[in-house]
Amino acid sequence: MDNVVVFGNQKGGVGKSTLAVLYACWLADMQRQSVCVIDLDTQANSSKSLRRFATDIDASALFGQTAPPIPLPCKQGIALVASSRSVADIELAKPEVVIPAFRRSVMRLAQDFDTIVIDTPPALGLRMSAALIAATAVVCPIELEEYSIDGVTDMLKTVFGVRQRYNPQLRLAGIVLNRFNPRSLRQKAAMQELAKNFREFAIPARISIRSAIPEALAEGVPVWKLPKSAAREASLEVMQVFELLQQRITGSGETARMGEVRA
Ligand SMILES: Nc1ncnc2c1ncn2[C@@H]1O[C@H](COP(=O)(O)OP(=O)(O)OP(=O)(O)O)[C@@H](O)[C@H]1O
Ligand SMILES: [Mg+2]
Repeated sequence: MDNVVVFGNQKGGVGKSTLAVLYACWLADMQRQSVCVIDLDTQANSSKSLRRFATDIDASALFGQTAPPIPLPCKQGIALVASSRSVADIELAKPEVVIPAFRRSVMRLAQDFDTIVIDTPPALGLRMSAALIAATAVVCPIELEEYSIDGVTDMLKTVFGVRQRYNPQLRLAGIVLNRFNPRSLRQKAAMQELAKNFREFAIPARISIRSAIPEALAEGVPVWKLPKSAAREASLEVMQVFELLQQRITGSGETARMGEVRA
């Protein structure tokens, strides 16, 4: 299996969906890759942003015993496996049945796409476990607010546990600082704490709070396609983060070693 990249953090509202969508668009637009986006969150935020790339497949079908049909139709490099309400029912299913089924489905899709991007719900539940067990890399977006460091520790413990027990291929691509506000003293203090505890995992770049980012996604386009000067700065930040992430994901840059996570 090649590149299966999960955007995960059990904390809500940190930018998982935003960055999953932008990363998929960046791979398709800038790297000329074919990308399949799987949305496992019933809020369906990434499904809404990418609705023009929707296929007939619902994400809950990937947990069933029948393999997804391939090839999936792919428009401008992207195919969306959207979320629906039935995705929530997966949490009640037998893990020993649905987790291997999801992994098989993802492996089958991975034969057909350069990269699979998975957006996850804000919980360390069965869907998060299934995504991490099927993945080769995980990206952890964070917002530097109170308790965000505690949240990162829990997330990294989960990632490390999955890697040790179920999926030795899994690598931490990095922690991505999102919605950064350089004027906030609280965020500055949290950044020092992050640097102290997680320096080797944090991507050395950040994405500030930029209204152009949600504005563009509401229109169904990535921020670099928004014809506005305010979108330029945002695009530069986003692309710098993705370039650094990609180096780690493809192994051409420094790889975060999860054996070093301080539990
Ligand atoms: N860099 C940014 N600048 C401004 N707004 C942003 C930025 N990143 C994300 N947002 C906005 O912040 C909100 C939360 O982002 P998003 O939905 O991507 O987070 P999430 O981690 O997926 O949330 P959830 O856990 O609820 O799924 C959204 O309204 C999104 O448009
Ligand atoms: Mg989300």
